Amino acid sequence: MKILVTGGAGFIGSWLVESLLAQGHSVIVVDSLTPQIHGALPQPELKWLGNASVEFIRGDVRDRTLMDSVLGRVEAVVHLAAETGTGQSMYQIARYYDVNLQATAQMLEAIGTRHRQIQRIILASSRSIYGEGAYKLGERIVVAQPRDTARMKAGRFEPLGPGGETLECVPTPEDVTPLPASVYAATKLANETLGRIFAESYGTSVLALRFQNVYGERQSLRNPYTGILSIFSNRLRQNLPINIFEDGLESRDFVHVSDVVRAVTLALSSSLEGFHAINVGAGVPTSVMEVARILRSILGSSSALEVTGDYRAGDIRHCYADLRRARNLLGFEPRVSIEDGLKRFCRWVETQPVLADRSREAMGELARLGLGSAASGAGT
Ligand SMILES: NC(=O)c1ccc[n+]([C@@H]2O[C@H](COP(=O)([O-])OP(=O)(O)OC[C@H]3O[C@@H](n4cnc5c(N)ncnc54)[C@H](O)[C@@H]3O)[C@@H](O)[C@H]2O)c1
Repeated sequence: MKILVTGGAGFIGSWLVESLLAQGHSVIVVDSLTPQIHGALPQPELKWLGNASVEFIRGDVRDRTLMDSVLGRVEAVVHLAAETGTGQSMYQIARYYDVNLQATAQMLEAIGTRHRQIQRIILASSRSIYGEGAYKLGERIVVAQPRDTARMKAGRFEPLGPGGETLECVPTPEDVTPLPASVYAATKLANETLGRIFAESYGTSVLALRFQNVYGERQSLRNPYTGILSIFSNRLRQNLPINIFEDGLESRDFVHVSDVVRAVTLALSSSLEGFHAINVGAGVPTSVMEVARILRSILGSSSALEVTGDYRAGDIRHCYADLRRARNLLGFEPRVSIEDGLKRFCRWVETQPVLADRSREAMGELARLGLGSAASGAGT
């Protein structure tokens, strides 16, 4: 197939393009190389640059003329380009709307009205659309309500049931009612809705893959708005203290990029029709404290792990993927354990320069707007 990968120079995209080329596809990449991800003088690690089967275009997915010319030449689209900072999205609302939503709307309009040869669209969605993950309340599965800032300020972080009940966290299935807690998440959910309506109206297959926390070699180490692994590993390498948010027991489903790329390629080659939203994760929760401990041990660091009680508006407490649909529809099974994945990640990190830590700055912006507690540190 000839496939357009937007955001193909990014973390997931760079691996995906490599995998697609290895499978014999030809690829067009549109990526604007945003400074927040790639630096002012971008030099992304793109092993495939120069490969005859890939065309790299430095351009913006919001550019209608550019996208029109590219969409006319492909059979499938993997739409990864996006602004990805949850915290940042809370005050750059219009920019997140523009890049993450308006661009998708323009692309779908172009496909629907002018490029009907495209039969498969993969949208990069996110576990963030759920808000809090799923919990068991008696025999019922519920999504917890967004957490109350006053409770978080008082150091009480676990979400409660509607009547103040204690809840038990369970894998989150796709059919719970989504309750995004950030502007970023809201744009991702709106993308899914557009994708569903588009699939139903035009008969194009649209698959929204809800990635959990993706990590691995080549993730952006310079973006202070995302990725605790980047922020933690950078500080651990300098033996600087690590600010563990909340009480460290908040958890995420960390999924290695190689597993995510396999899920995308399975989605591209599947015969699924219509719209489907599908979780992609490792299917197991790992606490932030546990991740910090594993990283510290692999990197041989003497950094203190400081539990500060800091928090950010829009962060959730727990969420991990129910993978039954991914198994049934895609035959997807994650293969990389957190221990092995973090070893691979750290081996790569050690080949990269240590960067100035900008997480304090990022946190300060949130604090100024009353969107998080005032201290410094890394988020999730
Ligand atoms: N990494 C994760 O943990 C995760 C989790 C859930 C969902 N996702 C989604 O997966 C996708 C890829 O994420 P990633 O981690 O590879 O992010 P990334 O930031 O590494 O890559 C995104 C790429 O998009 C490009 N880009 C940004 N704005 C653009 C624009 N206007 N026009 C063209 N290119 C633009 C950037 O230059 C970058 O190369 C995103 O849509 C993200 O929301 C990622």
